[in-house]
Amino acid sequence: MTLVLCTLSDLDATGAKEIVLDKDGGRSPVFVVRFADRVVGYVNSCPHARLPLNWREDAFFDISNTLLICTSHGAHFDPLTGHCLRGPCKGQSLTPYPVRVEGDKIISDAA
Ligand code: FES
Repeated sequence: MTLVLCTLSDLDATGAKEIVLDKDGGRSPVFVVRFADRVVGYVNSCPHARLPLNWREDAFFDISNTLLICTSHGAHFDPLTGHCLRGPCKGQSLTPYPVRVEGDKIISDAA
């Protein structure tokens, strides 16, 4: 099923946007990020303890705005690959959530 998750301008404030999908009657949080002119998506679940990465709305980047951060225990991730570069889950990766951009819309075909 194709689903419009958000628009590019929804990423302007923080560079990221969380979307909570309804899946099989449950909540399934994902997020999209824009970095280096690319837009990528991930399941909002840290490989360390399976907690959400963010502690406030749409805040996924660290203070440098170059890495994603899990606020629970400080794991840092490459925004384009989801690979954990430092922290308790170093070497593991976020689960990709494939998205594509069409015009100003960010779309999932896997919703
Ligand atoms: S849950 Fe993300 S670093 Fe621990």
